[in-house]
Amino acid sequence: MYWSRSFITTLKEAPESAESVSHKLMLRSGLVRMLIAGVYSYLPLGYRVLSRIEHIIREEMDRTGAQEVLLPSLQSVELWQKTGRDALMGETMIRFEDRRGRKLCLGPTHEEVVTELAASQVKSWRDLPFTLYQIQTKFRDELRPRFGVVRSCEFIMKDAYSFDRGTEGLDKIYETMRRAYETIFKRCGLDFVSIKADSGVIGGDISHEFLVPAESGEDMVYRCRICKAVLGAHEVEIEECPHCHKDMEKLNALEVGHIFKLGDKYSKSLGVKFLDESGQQQVVQMGCYGIGVSRLIAAIVEQNHDENGAIWPVEVAPFGVLIVPVNVGDKLIWDKAVALHDRMVQEGLEVLLDDRDERAGVKFKDADLIGVPLRITVGTKWTKEGKLEIKDRRTGAVTEIAGDDTAALFNLLRS
Ligand SMILES: Nc1ncnc2c1ncn2[C@@H]1O[C@H](COP(=O)(O)OP(=O)(O)O)[C@@H](O)[C@H]1O
Ligand SMILES: [Mg+2]
Ligand SMILES: [Zn+2]
Repeated sequence: MYWSRSFITTLKEAPESAESVSHKLMLRSGLVRMLIAGVYSYLPLGYRVLSRIEHIIREEMDRTGAQEVLLPSLQSVELWQKTGRDALMGETMIRFEDRRGRKLCLGPTHEEVVTELAASQVKSWRDLPFTLYQIQTKFRDELRPRFGVVRSCEFIMKDAYSFDRGTEGLDKIYETMRRAYETIFKRCGLDFVSIKADSGVIGGDISHEFLVPAESGEDMVYRCRICKAVLGAHEVEIEECPHCHKDMEKLNALEVGHIFKLGDKYSKSLGVKFLDESGQQQVVQMGCYGIGVSRLIAAIVEQNHDENGAIWPVEVAPFGVLIVPVNVGDKLIWDKAVALHDRMVQEGLEVLLDDRDERAGVKFKDADLIGVPLRITVGTKWTKEGKLEIKDRRTGAVTEIAGDDTAALFNLLRS
């Protein structure tokens, strides 16, 4: 990809309305743009990051045996009345009437829809267990949309729903999901904690939240300075660790995931029943598992940045490599930059070539801002000594390698 032909736009300053580090950097590096309060467009760089995160989530969800589906955003309010959540959701749920007079809403979550779907399919114990997941846009009329994609009115969630014949099966899939979540957040380059949580509007008995410590987080957790145990605000009374009775540090955190053992809460009210081996009718046990996919982008930036910009963890980076020819007017430099670019494309690397006719300083600033993990500089080192400089965005370390040693270069890029 050539920068000059791309839709990448960087800003020197973030708009004043942006409060958190991630919101500022996401706007400055052209990942997202606000349409109206709480509603964002994902621009090419932001969409690349989003797609990479989704790819990780799909891999890990598929590994648990869950199957991907896509459920509708348009839902009937009537369905929500059957579980009593119509009233609970209140004004958070966006409602309207269509031309046929049908009372509709835009799905804020999908327990009702997926449970009704299961009710129509499940007949016998042979139909169980199964888990469905989707990556889809949710709509919530948030009272206070904040911090860009952290709390928005239209956002992308991965939600999964498990259906089992009994609590044993539910316990097992719940554990599998918990481990999958840990892997997902690790692969996203996040330092996260998980705590036993309040089940809130979703309901059920047991739930765990996954939180990412970050300054702008609206949630609060307590971490013991000694044993590193983490507790939710509702579990701590005197700010003392229950294990070692020492002080705990208070951390702001962003909730990025939430998993629930729902039991029969939805399957009972929407009638997901099956006949067991002895012909007895039983109610299905459900679990649900959510990840704030778009919020994850912000969480990653919160934890991976410096004063100059984002520092993308390799697995979620919008591009793996950025090539910067310091002077596009110099034929030796330009030809080398293009040759490198074409070779990398051939090798299947995600590469961006900064072909803009700008001063090197401007390009380096933008390189730091957009946070591509590796930057290859083609400059006078190349024309005079035949060397390329490869800078690691995270450490700032610069490695020089011979420009014609392609094997060494690709080894470095792939390590
Ligand atoms: N308004 C929002 N904007 C962006 N992400 C959200 C929003 N609301 C929830 N999420 C994400 O979706 C995940 C699952 O949602 P859920 O637990 O149902 O939300 P909540 O905790 O607000 O009740 C949350 O952990 C969070 O990461
Ligand atoms: Mg939650
Ligand atoms: Zn402790």
